[in-house]
Amino acid sequence: EKGGFPSFMEKEIHDQPMAVEQTLLGRLDEKGNLTLDELKIDESLLRSVDKIIVIACGTASYAGQVARYAIEHWCRIPTEVELAHEFRYRDPIVDERTLVVAISQSGETMDTLMAVRHAQEQGAKVVAICNTNGSTIPREADAVLYTHAGPEIAVASTKAFLAQITAAYLLGLYLAQLRGNKFKDEIGTILAELEAMPAKIQTVIDNEDQVKELARAMKDEGSVLFLGRHVGYPVALEGALKLKEIAYIHAEGFAAGELKHGPIALIDEGQPVFVIVPSPRGRDSLHAKVVSNIQEVRARGAVTIVIAEEGDESVSDYANHVFRVPAAPALLQPLLATVPLQIFACELAGAKGYDVDQPRNLAKSVTVE
Ligand code: F6R
Repeated sequence: EKGGFPSFMEKEIHDQPMAVEQTLLGRLDEKGNLTLDELKIDESLLRSVDKIIVIACGTASYAGQVARYAIEHWCRIPTEVELAHEFRYRDPIVDERTLVVAISQSGETMDTLMAVRHAQEQGAKVVAICNTNGSTIPREADAVLYTHAGPEIAVASTKAFLAQITAAYLLGLYLAQLRGNKFKDEIGTILAELEAMPAKIQTVIDNEDQVKELARAMKDEGSVLFLGRHVGYPVALEGALKLKEIAYIHAEGFAAGELKHGPIALIDEGQPVFVIVPSPRGRDSLHAKVVSNIQEVRARGAVTIVIAEEGDESVSDYANHVFRVPAAPALLQPLLATVPLQIFACELAGAKGYDVDQPRNLAKSVTVE
């Protein structure tokens, strides 16, 4: 059932083109409009929403953080992302015009379920983005958008993460369409770009040998840092979490802009630092800023492992290692840039002789608060 792979995690990493493809399937009607039939929530309510709060835990919360950039950009609705266990206990300001989006692979995470109930008690409507049919969170939510990643067995979440981002993007596009804002005419283009992602994810997977080789060489590292900006920031957090949970290596993700506000003091000779570089065709000066962050850490002795777009030569002088991902619109890059980080953690944990599917102290679904 592992499909010839040594672990479920490795199989599930390889399932990702399919997970994204299945999640996109059947979402367009004959007129080319996005349809989310399962989303049985009153359209007038979705039109009147004035705030979105995404609640989730762990990897699912990072999917929410990625989606926030897209939802705010496309819908112009203020969007917050909060860890479910923090949301629940801070007396959050939530009412009938708040749309709460609960993201959960298992649909059974107690922290997220309690936050869902709390939001509903305050009058908010809850949309669940979930991978497990008929589980508790989608049953209690007002509406459900299923990710169709297929069952995820490994404790560390991989394909569910990519499917969660995909589903949250569909929700964002649907809201943009419904509310008739300026992005509604671009929905077809963005969807076509999303539909091109499975093949691009496959290209990243096809190049996994280079990542695996480095992972094996780095198996005795004591600490690894990850930097990103914009959507690359939650990708950095996810890369660090994967390494902590299955390889038991101290790892931390930072917003690259935060470096000079403290974390740069950690950098000394030989410190490995992953950097997720945004597309050079992206907006603003984001790309240049990240390239200068690579320079800064490299100048202080870091070993830089850079994830950059195919053809982006600006990183070559400062990177000890470069992993290439196909060109994609800035907001879609997390679906590619995350994959080498998953492969890296999985291979490194395997090289240390750990059971990558069943890391110590962890359970697949956390059904206690
Ligand atoms: C990390 C991981 C966890 C889960 C988190 C939420 O690899 O698997 O951080 O993402 O426990 O679980 P779900 O999505 O089932 O609510």
